[in-house]
Amino acid sequence: MCNFAHDDRQPRYGFLVDAPEIRALIDATTRLRHTIRDDAARVEALRPAFAALLAADGWLPDSCAQADETSRMGGGIGQYALYRAEDGSLCLFSLVVPVGASTPVHDHLAWGLVGIYRGRQDETVYRRLDDGKDPTRAQLEVAKRQQLGRGEFYTLLPPADDIHYVSTISDTASVSIHLLANDTACVWRHRFEPATGVVTPFRSGYANAPCPPDADGAR
Ligand SMILES: [Fe+2]
Repeated sequence: MCNFAHDDRQPRYGFLVDAPEIRALIDATTRLRHTIRDDAARVEALRPAFAALLAADGWLPDSCAQADETSRMGGGIGQYALYRAEDGSLCLFSLVVPVGASTPVHDHLAWGLVGIYRGRQDETVYRRLDDGKDPTRAQLEVAKRQQLGRGEFYTLLPPADDIHYVSTISDTASVSIHLLANDTACVWRHRFEPATGVVTPFRSGYANAPCPPDADGAR
């Protein structure tokens, strides 16, 4: 499932963790993609199914809820694919942020829903002040901060509120669940340094599944 990063016997797409609770959310997402064209309306319609996954116990393997010392994000942050559409149109993953650790400031580049399954996180969201034409620079200011605990979640509708970082503020690692309309860990996203304005290309990678080899050839 989540602890065999380079085992060729492990599936790379589809249900990497096959649980009825995960299938219910993916089925609901697939259904609503066909019936609701508007992204904002669709993520609203997905709220009950996403809340149900966050409220359910027992479906997340321990191996998908552990730190990853090889993380490209640093800080032992683990990102584990639970479901990946082979066409890159949807993924579900867990993100494990150890006690006191913070993610880089990053974007997502896809609509979706993000919620807390274990622990507690502090989220800082940035707004962009420049026009985004220079891919190497970004002028950011803090737009909002919020704290989230188990069962609380937010929607993503880029470009609004798409740039953020999260820190674990509980005394145990936080585990958040992400449903996003891309193959998030394998697409080239952006990492931001708000103090200097520097933007760098960023591909986080999954701990338990490789990215397609056409990018940098690594996992
Ligand atoms: Fe994020």
